[in-house]
Amino acid sequence: MAVITNILKGDCLDRLTEVKDNSVDLIITSPPYADSRVKTYGGINPEKYVEWFLPRSQQFLRVLKPSGTFILNIKEKVVNGERSTYVLELILALRKQGWLWTEEFIWHKKNSYPGKWPNRFRDSWERLLQFNKTKSFFMNQEAVMVPMGDWAQTRLKNLSLIDLGRDESKVKSGFGKKVANWLSRSKAYPTNVLHMATETNNKNHSAVFPEALPEWFIKLFTKTGGWVLDPFLGSGTTTRVASRMGRNSIGIEILEEYYRAALRDVNRLDDKLVDNQVYEQITQVRHIYVR
Ligand SMILES: C[S@@+](CC[C@H](N)C(=O)[O-])C[C@H]1O[C@@H](n2cnc3c(N)ncnc32)[C@H](O)[C@@H]1O
Repeated sequence: MAVITNILKGDCLDRLTEVKDNSVDLIITSPPYADSRVKTYGGINPEKYVEWFLPRSQQFLRVLKPSGTFILNIKEKVVNGERSTYVLELILALRKQGWLWTEEFIWHKKNSYPGKWPNRFRDSWERLLQFNKTKSFFMNQEAVMVPMGDWAQTRLKNLSLIDLGRDESKVKSGFGKKVANWLSRSKAYPTNVLHMATETNNKNHSAVFPEALPEWFIKLFTKTGGWVLDPFLGSGTTTRVASRMGRNSIGIEILEEYYRAALRDVNRLDDKLVDNQVYEQITQVRHIYVR
């Protein structure tokens, strides 16, 4: 089965109008953060961020299938000695727009290097906010199971009497756990903290995803042949990974430089072809829009 990769240039607000309602299984993206990286691809004022984001997320809501998931990688920075609140405001506004805020994963950047600040420590994690349209979204938990090794060596090493029996919820919720049940298993479900190194080798863009990040969510939230969308594509990490994993994808990038980098990447074109604009003809063939 041929995999379709559509790389589109422009503002995702406009280009998404070409995409059919309820057609995408997973939206995974890292938008420009408020006011950061102004020199490279423009930042949005934190005061205006929600206002800027909402018309775009309205399109995301329209194109996402009811069983689909939206993963938003974002992190507020420090302004005048305080954490900015725009991400919190955005979460509330997205809920009002009709999204369910179903989960928050933490991306722990495990390759951070040491540093010294007068009143805080190295920022070494980012948010991966999960939003859904319905509570019955598709989730293949088995696809991301991890070897028991880590637990076997730590939590399961010295089990208490409570761990060996069933530990009922203290608040009488009806939930309980029997940790000993996991002793004989070779795999366990992961936690919502993802330990992944940042990508430091990509010279095409200053803020790329490590490939492992879209890969993990694509495995969890889509099937082979499903559709993945990254509306703020950057250098094309999401479309590259989706295509390698047998998923169709749409990537939208506003800046010519990154758009070309993403096209080169997915079509394996060399710079000469891109400069000669041959890519326009080649990619037209691949641009089979969803609509
Ligand atoms: C944080 S970067 C994404 C990096 C990407 N995850 C990667 O691995 O390369 C955000 C990208 O969104 C692009 N962008 C900003 N506003 C946009 C818009 N309205 N529509 C489409 N792309 C936009 C920027 O040019 C930038 O390349």
